[in-house]
Amino acid sequence: MILLTGGAGYIGSHVSMALLDAGMDVIVVDNLSNSNKASLERVQSLCGRSLLFRQADIRNQEAIYEIIRDCGVTAVIHLAGLKAVGDSNARPMTYYETNVAGTMRLISAMKQAKVKTLVFSSSATVYGVPTYLPLDEKHPLGPTNPYGRTKFFIEEMLKDLYASDNEWRIGILRYFNPVGAHESGLIGEDPLGVPNNLLPFVAQVAIGRQQKLKVWGNNYDTPDGTGIRDFIHVVDLASGHLSVLNHLKHPGLLTLNLGTGTGSSVLEVIRAFEAVSGRPVPYEIAERRAGDVAICYADPTLAGETLDWHSARSLVQMCADHWRWQLKNPNGYRRI
Ligand code: NAD
Ligand code: WQD
Repeated sequence: MILLTGGAGYIGSHVSMALLDAGMDVIVVDNLSNSNKASLERVQSLCGRSLLFRQADIRNQEAIYEIIRDCGVTAVIHLAGLKAVGDSNARPMTYYETNVAGTMRLISAMKQAKVKTLVFSSSATVYGVPTYLPLDEKHPLGPTNPYGRTKFFIEEMLKDLYASDNEWRIGILRYFNPVGAHESGLIGEDPLGVPNNLLPFVAQVAIGRQQKLKVWGNNYDTPDGTGIRDFIHVVDLASGHLSVLNHLKHPGLLTLNLGTGTGSSVLEVIRAFEAVSGRPVPYEIAERRAGDVAICYADPTLAGETLDWHSARSLVQMCADHWRWQLKNPNGYRRI
């Protein structure tokens, strides 16, 4: 039985699908602070298999311990947490409490139950401002905001944990920019309020929920002047979790980038989205967003060699799948 924290969320619902499709048993723990249980109902109907769900907070060590003990959990994939960079500047202690203290409570519950296999959702944001590209796992770390620092501190904590007890099997996955949706269009990203991230905003402009995209800066040192990111299809990202779980048969601590190795600019994303949707995406050029870097993309070689995992889906497919989800669920899960 695999415990998936944050499994009702955007990435978690796709990881649930991947695990169920692979025949694994899954229990999701989520406090639903940024998600909707409908995602898991859809996952189950898509796979034709059921999973267990408990509405609980990862900071509740006793509740998590009981779940691990009573459900026979053998490994944990830990995605639960808060993830908005701007919000983390405004409420840093809430981020430390949920992400760092929450992970500490979870690890304590795992230790109590003698479960020592953990996959953790980290982020490319731990690298901060790139000093060289592509970003490999040896690149120095230097997150530039509280959210990124929570991921950094958790990574350090996990290294200390492994150093103290090398029976642990730990996979730290540094995601680049997850986008897209399951090809069915039934599960996808459902941001509360105005989206912060590029793809959800573009999709909402295309469907008419937002009037115009602001492109934050066209004076970067990039071919078209706009920022470049490594967008990765969420289904490819999800399959990486399965690969790492299969790899963690032996004790060890692995830190891996999950990205495609290819960067795309904001304008390239807009054009790809317009092409697949057949809808215009009006935009205007605005000032650079504070804290943004010009270019960020992964060297995914280590994940390829270690896990035999590779991303397969193109930017066009990411946009097409994101668009299908947006079209089928113009208001997300809440108001269908
Ligand atoms: P999400 O908000 O959709 O999913 C996170 C889930 O965690 C939500 O369902 C939320 O309700 C739940 N949650 C939050 N606090 C909780 C708590 N205290 N107890 C129990 N559940 C709680 O976000 P996502 O995009 O699916 O991200 C999943 C993980 O991946 C996060 O840890 C995030 O930091 C990391 N990550 C995301 C991205 C991205 O761009 N989406 C990139 C890199 C890393
Ligand atoms: C991508 C590009 C923007 C919105 C963030 C987090 C990171 C990780 C992934 C969790 C940039 C531009 C965006 C808009 C725009 N999350 N943009 N107009 O900033 O690379 O990464 O999400 O770990 O930690 O920082 O992603 O999608 O916000 O931006 O021009 O309305 O799109 O300037 O160049 P980012 P993003």
